[in-house]
Formats: sequence, structure tokens, C-alpha cells
Amino acid sequence: MQGGGQAAALASSPSAAGRSPADGPLAAPIVRLAGVGKRFASGVTALAGLDLTVRQGEFLSLLGPSGCGKSTALRIIAGLADPSSGTVEWSRDTGGGVPGAHDIGFVFQEPTLMPWATVFANVWLPLRLKGVSRHAARAEVVGALSLVGLERFAEAYPRELSGGMKMRVSIARALVTRPRILLMDEPFAALDEITRQRLNDDLLAIKVRLGTTVVFVTHSVFESTYLSTRIVVMAARPGRILETIDVDAPLPRSQGFRTSPLYNAVCEETSRALMAAIATAGDSHL
Ligand SMILES: Nc1ncnc2c1ncn2[C@@H]1O[C@H](COP(=O)(O)OP(=O)(O)OP(=O)(O)O)[C@@H](O)[C@H]1O
Ligand SMILES: [Mg+2]
Repeated sequence: MQGGGQAAALASSPSAAGRSPADGPLAAPIVRLAGVGKRFASGVTALAGLDLTVRQGEFLSLLGPSGCGKSTALRIIAGLADPSSGTVEWSRDTGGGVPGAHDIGFVFQEPTLMPWATVFANVWLPLRLKGVSRHAARAEVVGALSLVGLERFAEAYPRELSGGMKMRVSIARALVTRPRILLMDEPFAALDEITRQRLNDDLLAIKVRLGTTVVFVTHSVFESTYLSTRIVVMAARPGRILETIDVDAPLPRSQGFRTSPLYNAVCEETSRALMAAIATAGDSHL
């Protein structure tokens, strides 16, 4: 899926360079971006010198000013865009270095459901594209729907669902192939606060249950602190890493975590880093 000669195999040695997730020794890297740059034909340089290692089992948030290249970085990891420079290396565990489509799940800000198809058919889609019949896919689709609490809505149409339920369907669709890595681009930005917090908790529960590695883009300091084992703050123009903040609390988390001294300290540190990142943006995009 990854473009041309840019992708290569990455030795999955736990001693490889990088920072550890919440606790214990370093987990094995899944994918490493080294010196990644992206310059569009328009002349915009979205990324320059981006070095990022995603490790097995972590919940990594990308935070940064609008236009700093978060979505571009996610698309490059997904193989939906090629870097202009630098390399994307995958762990050998993904099967020879380059991941198959089923190794990666992608959730966008919009649920992007097919309005004419039932919830079941929407979630079946990635398996259907792999040639799996409706009958053969049944257990996986029902399993993915029950992960997000929507097993009773399999025959509903998207127009019958709330915004939060549509996003749950979108998450079920991304998980139906049981990807090793789940990429999420501001998935909860359009939801009200209560729905967002519920989805935060449910996402963490699913992540822990399946052992999925998550890379999550958000604009919210609070959301990134609540969800992540590691927060990467990106600078703007061109996008690169400004600061990395570890969140040393086990997953999943509970409402009590939101009032803990650690949560407050991480929010403060992340806010400060985000302010510094916004200062690098000058007057662009803000
Ligand atoms: N296909 C494209 N062609 C040209 N320029 C692009 C393209 N996609 C993104 N850009 C530009 O690259 C820069 C980074 O865009 P990107 O969408 O990655 O930022 P972002 O951090 O996700 O922003 P936001 O927080 O607003 O979603 C922006 O200046 C954007 O206008
Ligand atoms: Mg974006």
C-alpha cells in the first residue's frame, strides 16, 4: 500500500530508538517515519524532517495548529499519499515490510457512510472489497457492531442514526478487518461534549480489548491527554515534531482520571507546547 521505494522493512527490535509508552520497557516499533517531507504541487511544504516512530500498543495523539500537516502525516502512514522525501519503514511483522490494506483502519472526521446502505452493509464493505460474501462476513460484522454497541442497529440506515451512532458505525467499519493500527483524523470533533466523552471511553475500552495501536489526530488538549499514552505536538510551516509528552497512566481511564493531578499536569504541559507550536505558525491558517 505504501508508495514506491519509500517504504522499507523495519527490524522489530524493542531496543530500537524512540520513547517508551506509558510504562515498562520500549514496545516494538510498528512504523517509523524518518526525515519525512511533503511538498505539494501547489508549492506548499506541509511536512519537513518529520521523525516519528509508532510503537506496538501505544495510543499516540498528534496535536498541532491547523494546517501543520497532521492529516498529511496520517495519510502518508496509511499509504494514501507518498512522501516527497524521507522514508516510511514498517515492522517485518506486517508481512515483509509493506502493510496490506487490512493492517490499517482509517476513521475520518466525517463518518463517510453510504446513505443507501444499511449499517450492516456499511460495515461489511472492507470485507466485501476483499471478496468476502455477506454470509461469510456475518460473524465479523456483528462482532464489530457489538464492539461499538450497535448490534441491534444492523438493519438501520444511516439517516436513522445520531451523529455519535454514525461515528460508531464508522469505527466498526474500520475495525471489521481487525487492523493492527487504527488511524483516526479528528473523529469526534463534530460531536457534543457528552457524546464525545462517551466515545472516548468506548474507544479506550475497544483499544484495550483488541490491543490495537492507535494514532489519533485532535485539536483538543483535554482529549489528547485523556486518551493518549503519548502526545506529539507538531509545529507549523512546515510540519515537524516540536515536543513529545508521555502520559504515564494505564489504559483504560475513568472519569476520576480527569480530576487527577497527573491529568492536570499533562494538560498544562500540553497546552504550553501547543501555544509554542501556534507561535511557529505566524499568521498562516489561524
Ligand atoms: N492535496 C493538497 N494539495 C495542496 N496542498 C495541500 C493538500 N493537502 C493539504 N495541503 C496543505 O498542506 C498543509 C497541511 O495540511 P493538513 O491537512 O495536513 O493539515 P492539518 O494539520 O491536518 O490541518 P487541520 O488541523 O486544519 O485539519 C496545509 O497548508 C494544506 O493547505
Ligand atoms: Mg487535518
